Amino acid sequence: MHIPLLLLPVLGALTQASPIISRASSWPNAPFTTSGRDIKNNLNETVTYAGVNWPGAADTMIPEGLQYQSVSTIMTKIKDLGMNVIRLTYAIEMIDDIYENADTSLKTAFIQALGETNGTKVLNQVLISNPSFTENTTRLEVFDAIAAEAYTQQIYVHLDNHVSKGIWCCGHDDGNAWFGDTYFNVTSWKRGLAFMASHASSWPAFTSISLRNELRTTTNGTGDNWVSWYENMIPAADGIYAANDQPLIFFSGLNYDTQLGTIVNGNDIGNGTAFSLHDHAYADKIIWELHNYANSATSCGSIRSSLRNQGYNAMEGGNVTNKAPVLLTEFGFDQNTASQSVYAQCIKEYLTGLPGGPGGWMQWVISGSYYIRQGEQDKDETWGLLNHDWSEWRNQTAADYTKSFVDATLV
Ligand SMILES: *[C@@H]1O[C@H](CO)[C@@H](O)[C@H](O)[C@H]1NC(C)=O
Ligand SMILES: *[C@@H]1O[C@H](CO)[C@@H](O)[C@H](O)[C@H]1NC(C)=O
Ligand SMILES: *[C@@H]1O[C@H](CO)[C@@H](O)[C@H](O)[C@H]1NC(C)=O
Ligand SMILES: *[C@@H]1O[C@H](CO)[C@@H](O)[C@H](O)[C@H]1NC(C)=O
Ligand SMILES: *[C@@H]1O[C@H](CO)[C@@H](O)[C@H](O)[C@H]1NC(C)=O
Ligand SMILES: *[C@@H]1O[C@H](CO)[C@@H](O)[C@H](O)[C@H]1NC(C)=O
Ligand SMILES: *[C@@H]1O[C@H](CO)[C@@H](O)[C@H](O)[C@H]1NC(C)=O
Ligand SMILES: *[C@@H]1O[C@H](CO)[C@@H](O)[C@H](O)[C@H]1NC(C)=O
Repeated sequence: MHIPLLLLPVLGALTQASPIISRASSWPNAPFTTSGRDIKNNLNETVTYAGVNWPGAADTMIPEGLQYQSVSTIMTKIKDLGMNVIRLTYAIEMIDDIYENADTSLKTAFIQALGETNGTKVLNQVLISNPSFTENTTRLEVFDAIAAEAYTQQIYVHLDNHVSKGIWCCGHDDGNAWFGDTYFNVTSWKRGLAFMASHASSWPAFTSISLRNELRTTTNGTGDNWVSWYENMIPAADGIYAANDQPLIFFSGLNYDTQLGTIVNGNDIGNGTAFSLHDHAYADKIIWELHNYANSATSCGSIRSSLRNQGYNAMEGGNVTNKAPVLLTEFGFDQNTASQSVYAQCIKEYLTGLPGGPGGWMQWVISGSYYIRQGEQDKDETWGLLNHDWSEWRNQTAADYTKSFVDATLV
């Protein structure tokens, strides 16, 4: 397990007595940078992420599960698996609201998303489970509370812009698919990223931020081309870096974040230009992120070769042009049927067996249920590590899979 405390006697021996305390209290030893395919903390130690997605980007735009459990109880469950990071998702619409009025209160957010009766009921449950909140606590203050608890429990916070309009993600036809899509206002998006990067500078546990979850074509086929990707992603990353030069910046690819090979390999994006890390002031902050849901695969070989083509060759010791760490920020499966599947076993075997050390990952998803998903309130999540009321593991065999994956990653 990658717990700095275990290293303290060694560090102490190397560096005199007093740094023991300061090193312990300086977690997370940020800012992080990259060195080739590794992430390094400010002690030049390799940091590998092993964690879970905590969604907060759907209709309510409030991190899920708080009607059933407190922030600290949920964080403790995550910590019990030995995990060291959460991928906390948010919607740009939350920041648009902040610019347009003030941030929406929990009361307003729940009533808007769930209706007067159910919204009031769920709000009251949230306030019982989380007595430090009131009906006037804002959505952003809930994110602050999660980040504060993450710091207390030494869990890194990775912020993920999941969608523009706050709804379940992701489809071609949801209006959040590609730059300029119905809800995907590029100006708002860049403003929102910079806002969150700046806001999160006050969270000590905050170590990284993504540009956008799962880019994809819109209903009319627009999107999924590298020139448009480049034209939008680079200025957005520049804006994050200008707002806060500390966090790592995660770049996702095309087709639901399953293609990054062109960028990793520095190939022509289609107009005679190629991406080069060294063109960017934040070259040592760039992370490549990919998703994999090849759940029905019958051979690990096919999963491995597609990951390699999608950008994982950067982690396999290849001489790639734009070598940077590659992280699997989403993968997951039905907790009651699939933890022994070829897919689940292969993802674990592949990431933990990479030459040069394990690759980082975040499983989809911690949620036992959602306030609302695709119109259905209190929707159960069969892929959730936790059960419906977020009190216990949904399936002990599946939780054991995840725990052993964490242990094999944070060696
Ligand atoms: C960081 O550690 C690596 C070995 O992992 C070493 O090669 C490098 O010189 C170190 N860098 C610094 C700044 O100490
Ligand atoms: C309100 O919540 C109940 C479950 O508590 C659910 O059956 C009902 O469908 C919800 N109402 C709406 C409008 O979704
Ligand atoms: C929330 O704000 C409203 C309006 O300012 C106020 O009337 C109410 O007392 C506040 N509620 C709490 C619990 O502070
Ligand atoms: C296709 O959809 C995009 C995004 O919604 C829009 O900007 C574009 O104008 C549409 N193109 C056509 C040909 O309808
Ligand atoms: C996009 O958002 C900006 C604010 O960020 C706003 O000024 C602009 O009008 C919006 N554009 C459209 C087409 O809605
Ligand atoms: C290719 O497109 C990108 C994004 O618009 C642009 O930055 C770059 O200058 C273009 N390259 C050429 C050679 O026109
Ligand atoms: C790595 O590839 C680059 C071209 O991308 C080439 O210039 C360089 O010589 C290669 N290095 C090795 C060690 O093969
Ligand atoms: C838990 O998952 C395992 C492995 O997929 C499965 O065999 C078992 O039936 C599941 N347990 C329940 C109660 O569904």
